[in-house]
Amino acid sequence: MCEHEREKFYITTPIYYPSDYLHIGHAYCTVAADVMARYKRMQGYDVMFLTGTDEHGQKIEARARDAGCTPQEFVDRIVEGPKGVKDLWKLMNVSYDRFIRTTDAHHVQAVQNIFRKMYEKGDIYKGVYKGMYCTPCESFWTETQLVDGKCPDCGREVKPAEEEAYFFRLSKYADRIQALLETPGFLEPASRVKEMINNFIKPGLEDLCVSRTSIKWGIPVDFDPEHVVYVWVDALFNYTTALGFMNGQYDDYEKYWPADVHFVGKEIVRFHSIIWPAFLMSMDMPLPKKIYGHGWLNLNGDKISKSKGNVVDPYLLAERYGVDALRFFMLRTFPFGSDGNFTNEALIGCINTDLANDLGNLVSRTVAMVQKYFNGQLPLEQQEDPEKDDELIAMACRLNHSYVEQMEKYAFQNALAEVFKVISRANKYIDENEPWKLAKDEANRPRLARVMYNLLETIRICGGFLQPFMPDTSAAIMERIGAQDHSWQSLAFFGTLPRDARVQGGAPLFPRIDAAKELEALAKLSQADQQPEQPPLPEPLSPIAFDDFSKVEMTVVKVLSCEAVKKSEKLLRFELDDGSGTPRQILSGIAKYYKPEQLVGKTLVAVTNLKPRKMMGYESCGMLLSAERGEALHLIMVDDRIPAGSRLV
Ligand code: ME8
Repeated sequence: MCEHEREKFYITTPIYYPSDYLHIGHAYCTVAADVMARYKRMQGYDVMFLTGTDEHGQKIEARARDAGCTPQEFVDRIVEGPKGVKDLWKLMNVSYDRFIRTTDAHHVQAVQNIFRKMYEKGDIYKGVYKGMYCTPCESFWTETQLVDGKCPDCGREVKPAEEEAYFFRLSKYADRIQALLETPGFLEPASRVKEMINNFIKPGLEDLCVSRTSIKWGIPVDFDPEHVVYVWVDALFNYTTALGFMNGQYDDYEKYWPADVHFVGKEIVRFHSIIWPAFLMSMDMPLPKKIYGHGWLNLNGDKISKSKGNVVDPYLLAERYGVDALRFFMLRTFPFGSDGNFTNEALIGCINTDLANDLGNLVSRTVAMVQKYFNGQLPLEQQEDPEKDDELIAMACRLNHSYVEQMEKYAFQNALAEVFKVISRANKYIDENEPWKLAKDEANRPRLARVMYNLLETIRICGGFLQPFMPDTSAAIMERIGAQDHSWQSLAFFGTLPRDARVQGGAPLFPRIDAAKELEALAKLSQADQQPEQPPLPEPLSPIAFDDFSKVEMTVVKVLSCEAVKKSEKLLRFELDDGSGTPRQILSGIAKYYKPEQLVGKTLVAVTNLKPRKMMGYESCGMLLSAERGEALHLIMVDDRIPAGSRLV
């Protein structure tokens, strides 16, 4: 029996904003948490691994509006639908125990109860929220959040505004939070502690606005329903409501809370290490044992966003290289606490070096030799040769300690490095012992059998420790080497594999990739994937009466001539046939988009009852219609068969 048996381990990932563009960076944290959950389960812990989605807020409201559906329909599709969030976890072989959606009824109810409790305690009070408001985005921003004084989301002008709001007394908890941050092991990596203290605690914690009246898609404050609960209050409590806290859905709160570790991306460490503990202090709830702030997977130095020049679609990558290779790559290549730069070269290099050359080769060479020299099954008689074998055996036995030491520090990269040291040593052991030479002399058979056994046993131990990272590969390895027992306890002992183990051949676990060809293929794929992002839609105008619309005279016109206006960078001068028999002159500021000769003979639409206007010395009698989205502009061109002078009705 394992000494940890039935001890509990509660691990969480952040809950994700529903996004219809999920990339490999999104999978990073959840795969890491999955590795930890599998590792702890292997050790015998009673694991609760929670993940989910953060579904409220004005961005979702706006995107649902753009998509022409309700916010609930929108999030349902992205969370539950094809290639949605749950699908991605299935693809990545993520073994979560529970999935919470912040639109779940039990979560909504619990958040209302929590908000009321903090209000009744006096930690939440009513005040006035002052900020900068972006009307099209319906978003409040603080001065510091603005980018060049403009809305950080859409880049448009913002204006000062106020609204009534509830506030949380964050300032009251400043001293306790500072002491918590300074508690060794609470926030890791340790470098993040200084950042939090210097950037947020030292300048002074201000009370936090925790409700909004300008947003509708959120959890209403039940005693003041004009207000909805601020998304971060709603989101952070997911870690407890998912266990049944303040709702009747589950009965797991007493058992699993406090969390052993919250894995979070570095940009949300502040919410988890300062605001979250303050909420919990206010609620008199135990605090999580650890917050681990991991780094980002970057692409060309920036956090991965819509792909630029590299393929970062997990579906596509998993299809080409397999899910295990992808999981392995992320944790083997980058230290978990720091940023890492994702490149296709690094991915292919990692697969070729570690998986195809080192691990794959060791397994296939060993299995092939057991097949060739012993018909697939080792004989019972094996001759020991400690001098030659000691080093390999000692390394394989020590792995139990070195691997655990690194895993307990969430140093996944180092834990894997320890396993691969032993794999490399085993490959060297083959070269040192030259089984092909031993096989030439019948008298060496017991020694040859021993060499093969040592290799199989090393593979079993390494394959066992790889299980949390590459569950399918680990199972395939055990099958090939005929290992029945690869339990956690068995990995600490060399010699668990039966002496007369029977092996099975199979296709290479990780075929070597032709890097040059593959990179070329990926480059083509990413070019095809690079559709320009559409700029945001303009603000809708208020409705007008039909009478107002019918006052505008829109006429089909043909371009008789067109020329650039001298000394103007913008204007083109048109002579147009409007069906009246007299050419109509219109000036239009579209020189940036069209060359005059492109337009002669085209059939366009003009507003023909606008009052004439002088521009650069010319009279412009009307306006050509065009369509605009962001930087792009297109003249409205209609079917050439429509006669000039036809009226648009
Ligand atoms: O922040 N590399 O949600 P989110 C590494 N809803 N991690 C990345 C990444 C990348 N390129 N891109 C995203 C939220 N992430 C909130 C959380 S928790 C109560 C509420 C990580 O969908 C990011 O760092 O924007 C974060 O930890 C997680 O994905 C979810 O991000």
